Amino acid sequence: MNRDLRLGLLAAVAAMVPGILLVALGVSGSLAVIVTIGCGVGVIVTLGRRWHSQATKRSESQTTHLRSAIGVAATAGGIPTYWTEHSITPETLTQIQQLIAALGVRSVLELGSGISTLLIAHAFRRSGGGHLLSLDDDARWAAQTTATLEREKLDSFAEVRVAPLKDTTSGSRTSPWYDLSALDPQARFDLVIVDGPPAWKGDALARLPALYELRKHLSDNGILVLDDAARGGEREIAARWQRDFPDLHFKMVGLGRGLFVASVQKSVLDLLPA
Ligand SMILES: C[S@@+](CC[C@H](N)C(=O)[O-])C[C@H]1O[C@@H](n2cnc3c(N)ncnc32)[C@H](O)[C@@H]1O
Repeated sequence: MNRDLRLGLLAAVAAMVPGILLVALGVSGSLAVIVTIGCGVGVIVTLGRRWHSQATKRSESQTTHLRSAIGVAATAGGIPTYWTEHSITPETLTQIQQLIAALGVRSVLELGSGISTLLIAHAFRRSGGGHLLSLDDDARWAAQTTATLEREKLDSFAEVRVAPLKDTTSGSRTSPWYDLSALDPQARFDLVIVDGPPAWKGDALARLPALYELRKHLSDNGILVLDDAARGGEREIAARWQRDFPDLHFKMVGLGRGLFVASVQKSVLDLLPA
């Protein structure tokens, strides 16, 4: 039984309780009926307001999603913008693109390739410079993103490297995470986008190692953004990072599926909505 139906049935039963109690206490039947009707109306109004507010929020979020998707498609220069449940949301990508422009970001490291890789590479081509390196644990998916980059002649602005997951001990925990041997140990990035490994495979803390492993790769003005930050696992990751990195500055942004931002410079956070 779905949650709303369960809540409705529970509320219907609860609305009848005062009437039944009144009858049990010997109060007249007509008063019990009036009280029951009153309780029923109260329940209907309360549940109706709750459901109306949920439906309004859903529709507002879909409108934001559509508006962002249309905006991104308009500037995508014909690159296919297919949004799946795995891809970054258009509103999150738009926010990241704004950060890239505002901060003059030239070097990006991404964990988890896809539409974000293509569209950031396209933005670099339009603005005249910048490079994105994307690590992906899935060789087939990496090859598909690479093929699109080549077809769209974006391969000098972005590269996808296969980085298989291997057991990594980070933040007092061992879990499968990207093998960084594909990464130059001296490399520094202005922006790190954490959109993998996929947490839907079962480990809610799959992305925990990112900041522990990549802090040393952030430039002096660097930022690291964690996508899907509204999920329970990512909220736990955000709390652990805040505890373990007192030298960094953090902000949770209520966009898309949530974006948690860690920044070397505090002033960068002022560029973000609350
Ligand atoms: C959250 S996804 C990365 C999404 C990517 N940043 C984007 O905006 O499209 C994490 C991983 O899921 C895998 N994946 C499988 N199917 C996918 C799909 N349809 N779209 C994106 N990633 C997919 C890839 O290995 C990818 O690295």
